[in-house]
Amino acid sequence: MSLSDADPTATVATLRAAGCVFAEDEADLLHAAARTPGELREMVRRRVAGDPLEQILGWAEFHGLRIFVAPGVFVPRRRTEFLVARAATSLRPGAVVVDLCCGTGAVGAALLTLGDIDLYAADIDPASVACARRNLDVPVYQGDLLDALPEDLRGRIDVLVANAPYVPTDAVALMPPEARLHEPMVALDGGADGLDYLRRLAETAPRWLAPGGVLHVETSVEQSGVALGILRGAGFTATVDHDDDLDGTVLTAH
Ligand SMILES: C[S@@+](CC[C@H](N)C(=O)[O-])C[C@H]1O[C@@H](n2cnc3c(N)ncnc32)[C@H](O)[C@@H]1O
Repeated sequence: MSLSDADPTATVATLRAAGCVFAEDEADLLHAAARTPGELREMVRRRVAGDPLEQILGWAEFHGLRIFVAPGVFVPRRRTEFLVARAATSLRPGAVVVDLCCGTGAVGAALLTLGDIDLYAADIDPASVACARRNLDVPVYQGDLLDALPEDLRGRIDVLVANAPYVPTDAVALMPPEARLHEPMVALDGGADGLDYLRRLAETAPRWLAPGGVLHVETSVEQSGVALGILRGAGFTATVDHDDDLDGTVLTAH
């Protein structure tokens, strides 16, 4: 039984009182997802307590796909659809593509819809790896950045895509409670200036990229100047692009 036909007025009022900006939309989604009144009550209770909607529903919409989201795993953001769009410009049939720091695997799943590619994914967090394995029918490795990958990919990656953590440590405390209380710190904290992961990637990626390979990394507008300097200092030709509609910012490095 779905409760989608039941009157969601009371749910809307409860969610609105709790500060949910999109109370009507969220109430519709919760009513459609709950199979019993008890389940609906529990879902509303969790939402009022601040759990991310996507973790309650068990899925997030990303690039037109329904991506499975496990509790405690980073919820894919709409702005990351711009990372997909930038990476799409680098795809060729048969390209070896790696979705690094994959979280749910949303970026990789989106790229799989765009071309006939040879995709691999990796993340350090076991819950993310398990979640990505449900979303992706490709090898998903667990480990630290590129060290997670099998040796036979060394020097063979045509397109390396990463939405690694890039929030400066001091800024994590300023994030909405949904993120800082319900997503793991390992998914958010990018070090003092938010660029620790980019520095490590700039140093290690050249050993893993194929000749002519390309690196696409999400960043923020504020960080983009320093980020370009890091990539260029490591010998890359690097550019930055921003999409106003999605508010996404992506570095591209050859
Ligand atoms: C900002 S989230 C992005 C997740 C996913 N790519 C997305 O866009 O939805 C960053 C991800 O990096 C992973 N991560 C953090 N440190 C890592 C490391 N040293 N090696 C691999 N993955 C790491 C986290 O577990 C998290 O899933």
